[in-house]
Amino acid sequence: MKIKIVKDSNPIMHQRSLEVPMPLSDKDRELLDAMLNHLKLSQDEEYRTKHNIREGVGLAAIQTGHLKRMFVIYYQKEDGEIVQYQLVNPKMVENSIKKCALKNGEGCLSVDQEHSGLAHRHYKIRLRAFDALQNKDIEIEASGFDAVVLQHEYDHLDGIFFYDRIDKYKPLEQLPNEVII
Ligand code: NI
Repeated sequence: MKIKIVKDSNPIMHQRSLEVPMPLSDKDRELLDAMLNHLKLSQDEEYRTKHNIREGVGLAAIQTGHLKRMFVIYYQKEDGEIVQYQLVNPKMVENSIKKCALKNGEGCLSVDQEHSGLAHRHYKIRLRAFDALQNKDIEIEASGFDAVVLQHEYDHLDGIFFYDRIDKYKPLEQLPNEVII
């Protein structure tokens, strides 16, 4: 299955994705595998250059043209730990009052224009989902960068972009209770 990234100029990107019927179909599994594979390849510089694609750590199904509530995540932490998920029908069950934002802003494979500013996120979250990689329902508690990545992808399921989280008038202003990471 070949992945083609849909850009934010396409109105479908701003729609709410639909619940995925369970148990997961072979087709949906195949899509999740192709999405995860795309992320892994996107982190290989040689492949990236050859195929003219951008590097990413997360990808939602809608970014491949499928209006389904699922996303994948793949990256390696500084300590070498690999963070990887194929999440289906995720539900945010808790989020902290404490906020955070990435110092250098966020990026998105579907967004080509530059949107500088702080994208305000919850510092800590808890979400439940079916993880097709582990083939079971899981609960994830994440904070800091890990939580930002999960919220960025989760937002795609509701048609929300990181730049919707940037204050138009005061893009660089830190919120009270917010850590910049
Ligand atoms: Ni994105």
